[in-house]
Amino acid sequence: MALLRTLIDRAQNHFEPALPPGLRELYDGDLRFAESRAERPFVIANFVSTLDGVVSYEIKGQAGGSTISGSDTVDGFIMGLLRASADAVIVGARTVQDVSREALWIPEYTYPDAKHLFREYRVNMLHEPEYPLLVIVSGSGRLELERAVFRTPGLRTAVITTPAGRDALESAGATKLPSVRIHVLDAKGGTVAPMAMLRLLYEQLGVRRLLHEGGPTLFGQFLAAEVVDELFLTLSPQIAGRKGDAIRPGLVQGMEFMPDCAPWFQLLSVMPRAEHLYLRYQRTGGHSPTP
Ligand SMILES: NC(=O)c1ccc[n+]([C@@H]2O[C@H](COP(=O)([O-])OP(=O)(O)OC[C@H]3O[C@@H](n4cnc5c(N)ncnc54)[C@H](OP(=O)(O)O)[C@@H]3O)[C@@H](O)[C@H]2O)c1
Repeated sequence: MALLRTLIDRAQNHFEPALPPGLRELYDGDLRFAESRAERPFVIANFVSTLDGVVSYEIKGQAGGSTISGSDTVDGFIMGLLRASADAVIVGARTVQDVSREALWIPEYTYPDAKHLFREYRVNMLHEPEYPLLVIVSGSGRLELERAVFRTPGLRTAVITTPAGRDALESAGATKLPSVRIHVLDAKGGTVAPMAMLRLLYEQLGVRRLLHEGGPTLFGQFLAAEVVDELFLTLSPQIAGRKGDAIRPGLVQGMEFMPDCAPWFQLLSVMPRAEHLYLRYQRTGGHSPTP
């Protein structure tokens, strides 16, 4: 039975389905992505936000997306489906830090019931390893290496960092962890350019489809670099509010756009379930889409 209902789908124009039948049934339709553009992976982002655009309460123990979604099952399913569709998942260091130590960026972590369907899709249809590569971006290299993402057999984790970050990771023992690879890129003021990350992932690690799971700081840089192709946004029916002195980030943090160059998106699909809305957008370039 479908977990959600398709109201609008402007993305379906292929005869051959991309998803296996079990996942098509749960998703109430098919899910297909464009091929990666020249020399970089196709980038899909996924966020959940309150009605007033907040993506994190920034309260210890309640900073993650599940507080925003109300631990919504369908949001978890879509997250799992997108992970299952990707060669790699990229996250910023703070997003890793703000979840439980056991958290894993694998499809069944957010929707265990479809574990076998996700596996069948990845292994038999996409001919991919069971789990996507996890890519963590950290300029400082200050990561908690006891976390499950660094120590779970069968998972591959790549850390993109700076020369100083590599030194910090080496002295903390990261190079001794069998599933972890450290990739050093040039950085300006501790910040690696998104395009340099994408080139590394494309050329050296064979990534063609990349899922961006935030947070807002890393996502803002990717948006500014004009390398976000699609956005999956779950709109959760609650309002968090903001005070002037408290940071409750929206989709983008640490970056602002002027009206003449703000990114615009075209709506690809709308899917509701109860009070939640699941939206899919495609980047149109720097202009308002023509009506
Ligand atoms: N609602 C949702 O859908 C959703 C999704 C994702 C995250 N979140 C929430 O958002 C919050 C975290 O977001 P955030 O914006 O504070 O942090 P973030 O983007 O996850 O991580 C920021 C950190 O990533 C590293 N980083 C980012 N860009 C870099 C670059 N270009 N080069 C080198 N390093 C870079 C830096 O790590 P170092 O400090 O180690 O150098 C930086 O401090 C958490 O509360 C999380 O739960 C919500």
